[in-house]
Amino acid sequence: MVSKGLWTAPPFLEIGLPLQNKRLIVAIDGPSGAGKSTVGKALAKRLGYLYIDTGAMYRAVALMVKRSGIGLKDEQALEGLLSSLHLSFGNHEENCLYCDGEDITEAIRTPEISRLASEISQMKVVREAMVRLQREMGKEGGVVLEGRDIGTVVFPHADLKFYLDADPEERGRRRHKEWLEKGVTVEFKKTLQEVIERDQNDMNRSLSPLKKAEDAIFIDSTHRSVEEIVNEMCHIIDDKRKQE
Ligand code: DC
Repeated sequence: MVSKGLWTAPPFLEIGLPLQNKRLIVAIDGPSGAGKSTVGKALAKRLGYLYIDTGAMYRAVALMVKRSGIGLKDEQALEGLLSSLHLSFGNHEENCLYCDGEDITEAIRTPEISRLASEISQMKVVREAMVRLQREMGKEGGVVLEGRDIGTVVFPHADLKFYLDADPEERGRRRHKEWLEKGVTVEFKKTLQEVIERDQNDMNRSLSPLKKAEDAIFIDSTHRSVEEIVNEMCHIIDDKRKQE
C-alpha cells in the first residue's frame, strides 16, 4: 500500500488500466543457451521490473530432491517436499535465489543439477507447484519472467511474449563458456550433446512442452549482442504501449 496523507492507494488492481500506465507482465521463453537469462535480467533492469528465472526454480527443486534423497517415484514425499519449499529471489543485481533462507544461487548451476532439473520438470506434481508459485510472484505485473512455458501456460495473457532462440552450436558454445568460467572442465562436444538432449526433453515432454506461443515475437540471438536485443524488445514494448 502507498500512503499519501489521508488517502491510501488501493491494492494494485490492473484490470482495465491502459497499457501505457500498466506495469506489464513480460514473458521470455526459449531453449537453454538462447540468452534468456542475460537478456531477461538486462530488460528487467531497463524497465525497473522484477526478474524471475523460472528455470532456477526447477533447479532448486532438483537440488532439494537430490539432498533429501527422495526417489522420483515417491510422489507423496515429493509433494511434502514441494509444500514445505520456500523459494525467494533476492532483488539486488546478482538475482540470487534463496531456499529456506539459504543462498543456493551457485549450488543449482552444476551439470548434475541441470540433468535432474530437466527430469523433474517433466513431473506433473512439480510443474503444478512451480506454476502456482510463478503466478503468485508475477500477478501484480512489473515482471520479466523467463522459462519454457511462460507465454503458453504460466501467463498465457502476458502483455508481451518473446521467444528467444539461437543456433544449437552457438548455444552449446555459450553453455560451454559458462562451465569453463565456473571451473567445470567438460568437452565442448559433450556440452553440445547435452544442450541438444535437454532441448529434446523440454520440447517433447507431454506436460507444457517448450514451444513458441502463437502470439510470441521470435528473436534469433545467434549473432546479436545483448544490448541490441534488449533495445529491440524495448522498442517493441514502446510501440505496443503507443498502439493501445
Ligand atoms: O533454464 P534452465 O536451464 O535453468 O532450466 C532448467 C530446467 O528446467 C530445464 O531443463 C527446463 C526446465 N524448465 C521448465 O520446464 N519450465 C520452465 N518454465 C523453466 C525451466
